[in-house]
Amino acid sequence: MDFDTVIHGARVVSSSGATNCDVGILDGRIAALGAGLNGVESIDAEGLIALPGGIDSHVHIAQPSGPGIEMADDFASATRAAACGGNTTVMPFCLPDDGQTLREAAAAYLAKAQGQCLTDVSFHLIVKSADPVTLGQDLPALIALGMTSFKVFMTYRGMRLTDAEILRVMDVAREHGALTMVHAENEDAIEFLREKAERSGRTQPVQHARTRPVPVEREATHRATTLAEVADVPVMIVHVSNGAALDEIQRARARGVRVLAETCPQYITLTADDLDRAGFEGAKWVCSPPPRDTQEQAAIWAGLEQGAFDVFSSDHCPFRFADTAGKDAPGARASFRNIPNGIPGVETRLPILFSEGVGKGRISLEAFAALTATNHARIYGLDRKGSIAIGKDADIVLWDPAMTRKVTQDDLHHGSDYTPWEGFDVTGWPVRTILRGRTVMLNGIPQGSPEGVHVARTKPQVMP
Ligand code: URP
Ligand code: ZN
Ligand code: ZN
Ligand code: ZN
Repeated sequence: MDFDTVIHGARVVSSSGATNCDVGILDGRIAALGAGLNGVESIDAEGLIALPGGIDSHVHIAQPSGPGIEMADDFASATRAAACGGNTTVMPFCLPDDGQTLREAAAAYLAKAQGQCLTDVSFHLIVKSADPVTLGQDLPALIALGMTSFKVFMTYRGMRLTDAEILRVMDVAREHGALTMVHAENEDAIEFLREKAERSGRTQPVQHARTRPVPVEREATHRATTLAEVADVPVMIVHVSNGAALDEIQRARARGVRVLAETCPQYITLTADDLDRAGFEGAKWVCSPPPRDTQEQAAIWAGLEQGAFDVFSSDHCPFRFADTAGKDAPGARASFRNIPNGIPGVETRLPILFSEGVGKGRISLEAFAALTATNHARIYGLDRKGSIAIGKDADIVLWDPAMTRKVTQDDLHHGSDYTPWEGFDVTGWPVRTILRGRTVMLNGIPQGSPEGVHVARTKPQVMP
């Protein structure tokens, strides 16, 4: 029998093991794993690693970000960057614009993504209002359509929910089988520190980090896990940045609460000192929670090594630096408060974890596959994705483990005009990305037309 495509000679990795075999692809799915397979197209992958295509379950694309502020990526540029970074699925958020219902927002995002994407996409929702229509009608309807996860915020004016509201959202999640993701930072504590900083003339970008210290995240993480305990529902704590917050998660787990945890490249490689660069330069590193210090990096690494984290995502949230629609927003130089939050990272997530994690002996190849693809698929209900196994979508990244690169803006494909990792040395880089059997990136160059689709999800496997 001839397959459409056969990948020969790669070391094929899944979250449970690695083996040398051919991969036979038929009709966009993995049809065989074995020796001596024949394909119409034959890919020589001698010396390469075949990994499940990256799933980045935390990206922001074309999201409304305040009057006059624009994200640097649309769906075309974000998914081009994602594919070039070895990803085959990204999971962005639907955030309702002011006056828009959640259902209207979901329809608008699906329309924005339609026909634009080089990778597959699957949307989470953002619940910024716990009104009866959102909770009683829109959320159940959208969950039924396969948007089976949503994020709530304990910070950001206009987005944050009260504890009472979060409990009501969690109750909908419980009843309808969806996963609640929580951005855990204490807004009142941050505002207290922010006002004090501004009153005393401390307005530079680094004050963003100083006014969001570890305790505001630790307290909110404790509260979020406690609310999940009260609501009797699993919860995902996103973008965990420090050891104290991770300790709260572990304590909740020890009490029997089903807590999932995510961390991101910024918390293992960047520090608050990056926000303290001369002039306004530090604005490039403004994101929430902020990067911490080398001690907290070590705590996050320990968590990754010990299996305390379920997923490693980018929290890609791109703005241009030299742009008044981006980091240089009106008022941003007068106060850090006005700097849009977020950094680009969808293209560099996998190389950073591979180089710093696998390359430096901190995590195994199997753990890498789990943290970057398999666990995302399992936790969020992407049943056909996340592993190189018979019957799954043929979403595969071929990886050159020996390729050395210096990360640089000129080589990247996102819409931002900078990368926070400029000059960062990595060993290991994706050389070919395959989406449902079709090559969408080869040797750093995007391939083909945008045939990525929206993937509806089943009930997250972590739900009871
Ligand atoms: O600073 C960040 N992370 N911006 C993106 C929005 C969020 O909170 O994830
Ligand atoms: Zn072969
Ligand atoms: Zn967040
Ligand atoms: Zn985010």
